[in-house]
Amino acid sequence: MNRINGLEGTSPVGKQPATPPIQVRDRRFGRARHGHAPAARWWADGDPVGTAWLNGLSVTFPEGETLFIDAVKAFRDGVPPRLAAEIRDFVKQEVNHTREHLAFNRAVADAGYDLTAVEARLHSLIGQVREQPPIVWLGVTVALEHFTALFAHEFLAQPGRYITGENEQAELWRWHSVEEIEHKAVAFDTWNHATRGWSRWRRWSLRSALMLRVTRNFMRSANADALDLMAQDGITGWRAKARLGWYLLGRPGMLRRLLPAWASFFLPGFHPWDRDDSALVRGYDAPRTRKGQAAALIPAT
Ligand SMILES: [Fe+2]
Ligand SMILES: [Fe+2]
Repeated sequence: MNRINGLEGTSPVGKQPATPPIQVRDRRFGRARHGHAPAARWWADGDPVGTAWLNGLSVTFPEGETLFIDAVKAFRDGVPPRLAAEIRDFVKQEVNHTREHLAFNRAVADAGYDLTAVEARLHSLIGQVREQPPIVWLGVTVALEHFTALFAHEFLAQPGRYITGENEQAELWRWHSVEEIEHKAVAFDTWNHATRGWSRWRRWSLRSALMLRVTRNFMRSANADALDLMAQDGITGWRAKARLGWYLLGRPGMLRRLLPAWASFFLPGFHPWDRDDSALVRGYDAPRTRKGQAAALIPAT
């Protein structure tokens, strides 16, 4: 963590939690090897809805994370040395995530899903962002990194709520979640440095406006992606919308559950580490003597 004192987006000195160092865990998941059975089409506990939602998110990661890397790199000149080091590790982590989600997405296509419409939707959205000035790329990155940190927290803090099965795909999402929590403040701190000459009002109002726009676009496209993939499993019409709505807002209800943390972004002076969830990272890295023990170290929030 690298806070710039006196800016919107900082907390009083002395209140910062001891944040974990950013570790680059260069891991590979689900690579096809001779003799291994192909991944199940509904790898998320045999649930076509959960599988569609997570598959849709995964398809967005490679192009999305490339935007995040470009956005942060565009503003790294002149940052304090600690933030410069964090940016380097952020980039390494995101490059690894992209590589693994490209492999994951190939497995999704191999399972028989046509990803053309999902990729086209994503490409159009990212293209719209790239037409804007780089400071908008960075603001969009800050908003989307908040989303990924919220998903990551929820996924790790509620082991078994979203995926109970133990498989390579679930392990990929756990690994990605841990690293998203570790680097959740890097884009935000880069934003604070890039906008250090702005008034508090200007900084807050632009990041808040971008968050509202990103949320609307993300929800529209993620829902459309999931419905598109569900349709390829023969789940269509109002039944598809009802099942997806229940998945997101009922049980397991990820969107419902992360609403308060999402809203905290709009507080003046918000900083990603205001919520200290570094224990989730320590729980992941702790030696596991039996299944689930490390995750059980973490109080559910
Ligand atoms: Fe990532
Ligand atoms: Fe990230």
